[in-house]
Amino acid sequence: MNRIDTLMARMTLSEKLGQLTMTASGYTVTGPVIAGDSTQSIIDGTIGNLLNMVGAGPAHEMQRLAVEQSRLGIPLLIGLDIVHGHRTLFPIPLAEAGIFDEAVWERTAREAAREGAADGLAMTFAPMLDVSRDPRWGRTAEGPGEDPWLNGRIAQAKVRGFQGSDLSSAESLAACAKHFVAYSPVTAGREYAAVDISERTLREVHLPGFVAAIEAGVATLMPAFTDLNGVPMTAHVPLLRDWLRGEMGFDGVIVSDYNAIAELIEHGVAADLVDAAVLALKAGVDIDMMADAYRKGLPVALEQGRVTIDEIDACVRRVLRLKEQLGLFDDPYRRGATPEPAAVIAERHALARDVARKVIVMLKNERDTLPLPATAKAPGALAVIGPLADASTEMKGPWWGAGEHEPAVSVLAGLRAALPQTDIRHAPGVAIDSADDSGIEAAVALCDGADAVLLCLGERATMSGEAASRATPALPGRQQALAEAVTARAQALGIPVVAILFSGRPLVVPWLAEHADALLAAWFLGVEAGHAIADVLTGRVSPSGRTPMSWPRAVGQVPIWFGQRPTGRPMNPADYYTSKYQDVDNTPLYAFGHGLTYGRFRYDELHVEPRRVREQGTLTISVTLRNEGAREAEETVFLFVRAKVSLVTRPLLELKGYAKLRLMPGVAGSVKLKLPATELRYLGPDLQPLFEAGEVDVFVGPSAEPTGLLQQTIELC
Ligand code: GLC
Repeated sequence: MNRIDTLMARMTLSEKLGQLTMTASGYTVTGPVIAGDSTQSIIDGTIGNLLNMVGAGPAHEMQRLAVEQSRLGIPLLIGLDIVHGHRTLFPIPLAEAGIFDEAVWERTAREAAREGAADGLAMTFAPMLDVSRDPRWGRTAEGPGEDPWLNGRIAQAKVRGFQGSDLSSAESLAACAKHFVAYSPVTAGREYAAVDISERTLREVHLPGFVAAIEAGVATLMPAFTDLNGVPMTAHVPLLRDWLRGEMGFDGVIVSDYNAIAELIEHGVAADLVDAAVLALKAGVDIDMMADAYRKGLPVALEQGRVTIDEIDACVRRVLRLKEQLGLFDDPYRRGATPEPAAVIAERHALARDVARKVIVMLKNERDTLPLPATAKAPGALAVIGPLADASTEMKGPWWGAGEHEPAVSVLAGLRAALPQTDIRHAPGVAIDSADDSGIEAAVALCDGADAVLLCLGERATMSGEAASRATPALPGRQQALAEAVTARAQALGIPVVAILFSGRPLVVPWLAEHADALLAAWFLGVEAGHAIADVLTGRVSPSGRTPMSWPRAVGQVPIWFGQRPTGRPMNPADYYTSKYQDVDNTPLYAFGHGLTYGRFRYDELHVEPRRVREQGTLTISVTLRNEGAREAEETVFLFVRAKVSLVTRPLLELKGYAKLRLMPGVAGSVKLKLPATELRYLGPDLQPLFEAGEVDVFVGPSAEPTGLLQQTIELC
């Protein structure tokens, strides 16, 4: 018999349920405190998995209890939220989505895996694959932005990065595709609220990222806290058992979200923990994270004949197989055996700085305000104003994980390191979200004698992420008042205002967009934030980041995204009865993909070959660009399509590819993209894939802004 069969034959029910239980070391939830007894439970074999441990020492200590003291010696699976870096924090996932570079997405996951595994961990609860079109929802910060095609590319790159080519390697982690599925369209953007969407939206928008992750071999998956159209995901038999396990053949481990099984009671579909355990088990949830529902509920359910030991065994086998795939039986101390050399960590920081530079989105740059003029005449003076200028902790974003105590470089520190001769003056003016504006006057006074003003504004890191929805995703506290007062003085002095926004979401900032001379979205950039910002502001590098989400003019436009379906009455200024708001333009403040560089790219001719293509054919799309700017820069070119007539209404634009091109000033170049015609299938009226003959418009351009797109029409036949 193989190892798993041998163990299964020997395991008691308690030991089996232990393998289906994951508890946090030291954390507790409201209700049963199960974390505190984890050491004795590990020795007893009644807890087989842990989360929220950090450090090879503690991890190995717990591992020794399981391997050397428990009856069967089954190693622990230890996981942590390594979402955008472990100790070396990279930019938040929403920021990184805007880099449009699969190699980088994979590389940062690989580096995070190496660093997490060196801390004794074998699993991360990432990538988070929740497509979001709603900046009110705080978890937008952790996700891929608004587009399902982009989500699929990120999903595959992250799974490759975290898991590597050998899951048993000392540098690999089991990845976890989460939160399955359609968590982001919570009612009114309010965290954990109910979700109600159409089957079409589910299959066109929210499932594709998980299909991509499964195709990439993701080892585990986590259902969302939320219900979907009345059925909580943790108990969703049609999607977990029938679609995921049945249709998709996913045979990995499904781990519940934190206490989510017990929360089936709050959802009102379970009367007690036994009911909840039965529902989750029947749906195929293997590991119960922090609810203790399986250990307490399944023995009773077995007695009552509501579940069978075979159903429990099936889950146990999947967990044991994952541990085997991770190499935990062969060498439970492999991860964390060797501390990483300082040179590896230094190189990782250099990567963090490079990625941070590349995700900064220059939203506006009037009159080439940026880069800051190299003040040859004098070192110059900068007024660095705002509550996010000297805020290194905030730079790490809402999922700091093991990086909680890692230093991060603030804007102020980065600028002072980059401009040692410059007089860099600072005043916060206001706190991030307090009503006290008594500091504004002193901040305004800093403008006198300065060559430029840098306004560092935005959110606290914990104003996005989990449990952090905002009904008004604008500048918090009295920051708007600060911005207005500083901008008024700067304009009176004739000096430029560069506003830098720090946030886990697109912010609603129409006033700032109008009045700042330059505007940057810096999201939360991680441990090298300040250096990266200084690199861009001083022109050491050109900004190249693009926004992976549309920026609303007003929160009333939300949800807002480029791939909306048409209306029978498209906006027409000449016709009153058309789709519009009376008080706000329909278009976003900044479109998906928007991001300026220090170059200036002109798009010349677009060629699409062949003009008629069959389903098995491939389109070749080429476009010529010329950098008419004064500086070298890298452009991201997007490929969109739109079917002109279909059996159902189709999105106004569908993203199907991107390419990047770096050009020196005055130089022209071309990009070529390949698009298999099968990518032009869509879900027909029966929600089945359909390749339909007819005309399709092909677009390329710098963003989803329609006026900037070149177009050609081809025919599917
Ligand atoms: C949290 C999150 C989930 C995370 C898990 C473990 O509540 O919803 O994304 O992986 O619990 O920390």
